[in-house]
Amino acid sequence: MKTYLVTGATSGIGEATALQLAREGHTVLALGRNETSGKELETNGNGHITFFPVDLSVPEEIERFFEETKEQFPTLDGIFNNAGTFGKPVAPERVTDQQKEVFQVNYHAPEQIIQLAVKRFSKGASIVNNSAIVGHVKFPAMLLPYASSKSALLTLTKTYAARFHGKYRFNAICPGPVDTKLSHSLYGGKDKFDLAMKHHLRGQAAQPSEIAEVVCFLLSEKASYINGQTLIVDGGYTLT
Ligand SMILES: NC(=O)c1ccc[n+]([C@@H]2O[C@H](COP(=O)([O-])OP(=O)(O)OC[C@H]3O[C@@H](n4cnc5c(N)ncnc54)[C@H](OP(=O)(O)O)[C@@H]3O)[C@@H](O)[C@H]2O)c1
Repeated sequence: MKTYLVTGATSGIGEATALQLAREGHTVLALGRNETSGKELETNGNGHITFFPVDLSVPEEIERFFEETKEQFPTLDGIFNNAGTFGKPVAPERVTDQQKEVFQVNYHAPEQIIQLAVKRFSKGASIVNNSAIVGHVKFPAMLLPYASSKSALLTLTKTYAARFHGKYRFNAICPGPVDTKLSHSLYGGKDKFDLAMKHHLRGQAAQPSEIAEVVCFLLSEKASYINGQTLIVDGGYTLT
């Protein structure tokens, strides 16, 4: 059984992934801010999940997490860098410094996590970064900081894959719309999100568990020959 780190594990895609890894018998270090959800996740993980409250917008908190866990969890077999935020939708010419938090959480935090984790990686460790179709094949006018942070995450993924020659694998997923709090808030509520999803190629968004399946596959040795890739997981959304 393996040990995985999952960020943004308190909700949506990260929660579904942490729970699937726990069901498979792995140990999960689950990061997030919401302590109530974190405790609930630990309960649902049946002893496989440990929650750590870490705000990824604060680099010192990430450092503290690695310092505090180095003895109890000296080896990591993989990471799902999943946590993300889209900030405040705004026209590109009105983007301000406040939007830097989007880049901090979506790009700099995964970068710092990989830098701090690398000396703990077991041979064959697998890192999956959660990017998005936004920043890869879609560029909505009001989401420049989000899109550019997700594009940068793809570059980070491929650069690390090139650096380690397959000793560790680095891949990115680009989900299309998923039924989570993040997308509800982007569309102005769940009802508006569900309505918009009637135009999805398959008539509905993904459930978080459909993305978790793909992540768990990429984290596992079953995906041993997949490295440095960007996988769109969108149910055909970007075809139309
Ligand atoms: N939903 C979609 O349609 C979609 C599509 C493509 C890509 N994605 C990507 O999927 C990832 C997960 O999003 P989701 O859809 O599952 O949304 P979600 O249910 O809202 O989950 C977001 C997670 O990120 C965590 N998070 C946000 N800011 C954080 C911070 N500063 N520090 C620590 N944790 C933070 C949240 O933790 P707390 O709640 O504990 O703060 C939460 O666990 C994101 O990177 C998103 O960009 C989503």
